[in-house]
Amino acid sequence: MIDLVRVSVFGLGPVGLATAVCFAAKGYRVIGVDSDPQRVRQLKEGKLAFFEPGLKELLKQSVRSKTLQVTEDYHLNAESDFSFICVGTPSNPDGSANLNYVRSVASEIGMSLRPNKKRQVVVVKSTVIPGSARRLVKPILIRKSGRKYGKNLFLCSNPEFLREGNAIHDTRMPDRIVIGSDENSAIRMLENFYLDFHGESTRTIIKTTFENAEFIKYASNSFLATKISFINCIANIAQLTPGADVRTIATGIGLDQRIGPRFLNAGLGWGGSCFPKDLKALVSLSKSLGYDPKLIEASILTNLNQRQRAVEMCKEEMGTLMGKRLAVLGLSFKPDTDDLREAVSIPLIRKLIAEGGIVSVYDPVAMPNARRMLGGTVRYSPTAEACVKGTDCCILVTEWGEFVKLQPSFFVKRMKRPLMIDGRRIYDASKFRRAGVIIRGIGLGASS
Ligand code: UGA
Repeated sequence: MIDLVRVSVFGLGPVGLATAVCFAAKGYRVIGVDSDPQRVRQLKEGKLAFFEPGLKELLKQSVRSKTLQVTEDYHLNAESDFSFICVGTPSNPDGSANLNYVRSVASEIGMSLRPNKKRQVVVVKSTVIPGSARRLVKPILIRKSGRKYGKNLFLCSNPEFLREGNAIHDTRMPDRIVIGSDENSAIRMLENFYLDFHGESTRTIIKTTFENAEFIKYASNSFLATKISFINCIANIAQLTPGADVRTIATGIGLDQRIGPRFLNAGLGWGGSCFPKDLKALVSLSKSLGYDPKLIEASILTNLNQRQRAVEMCKEEMGTLMGKRLAVLGLSFKPDTDDLREAVSIPLIRKLIAEGGIVSVYDPVAMPNARRMLGGTVRYSPTAEACVKGTDCCILVTEWGEFVKLQPSFFVKRMKRPLMIDGRRIYDASKFRRAGVIIRGIGLGASS
């Protein structure tokens, strides 16, 4: 290992915390800075305000071993070799990225560096629009620190590609590392840091400009979201074609090495804290530059319409939803997280209620968050069993492992009428049909 490495991480949300604890577990001295006193207090006690597999254990371990110090005091950053900016960049009402948190953390980092002269490389991990490192972060750092850029102050862009629910794995084993800067020595320092951190498992490191690094993040998320919207579009056509099934179609196209099999699961659409805001921000950036990004806009629109498919299928099968008892399995925007940000489930449930449905819901971990968003409008079930009991229809919204395992008899025994709307295509339709379940699924044409 290179000499004792000191690192600060600013912003202890899902990305920052995963980054901080993984660095701490490696043995680096990590200072985790967050401006929210309640979050800092909880983290010091080893408590997490959100669900992320494996994170709590690593947090407790690193707090106990004192490799991670959680604090509100940004001045403690002064002694670090690297500081990572991991704060959120939410959407403004017009869709553009709100960089206020990045601005204020850059300012704190700059101020913390004023008293001493120790060299520091500042690393922007937050998703920021191309041009932000050079035109926003760098001038703030120089002004607030009073340092000479390129001497004892450096800046890199280093976008984060971790997925919620897989944060630890993705931090330790990223597919690639992207480093952008206007200083080759900064790129070298961060490259050496990552070579030490990842060791043998280091994959490709792309060294480039700030702007390319920033762009790679937006382009990645936009491509992935568009890949899903594409397969959902194919699914919607397949659904109108007797004998067709998007699952087989996806397998068939995914075997083409130019396409690849991942992110071709058709369903009720994408959500979460990243794709929706990043695609909107790219559209906003593009328009501000004078280019109309029709493809990205079409991805967003396809996605917004996709959740409607579940309501349409319910109505096709039951006529009206008025007074019908409907079970919703899965609420989080994807499995292994309790995150409900831009989750398909919430607008879908509101629509079901608006159509007169009586809705019961169940999710393995997102129930407390759901209560905050849905209040008294739905019945909260303690188990999947209780959720489907006596219902006229069950809509599978999030493909949690415990739902994937359910057999057709689970539904046949408990539901008033075993009607399944498989919003993520996790069930074997012919097996379900043979067992007496009426099953409809995204991209599943009528049986020929
Ligand atoms: C996404 C990217 O995958 C990460 O690389 C990126 O770092 C992150 O955003 C970010 O910008 O911070 P995440 O939002 O955690 O990660 O979740 P994904 O696993 O990408 O799933 C996003 C949505 O797409 C979910 O709603 C999921 O259900 C949906 N999805 C995914 C599909 O509908 N079909 C698929 O085949 C795959």
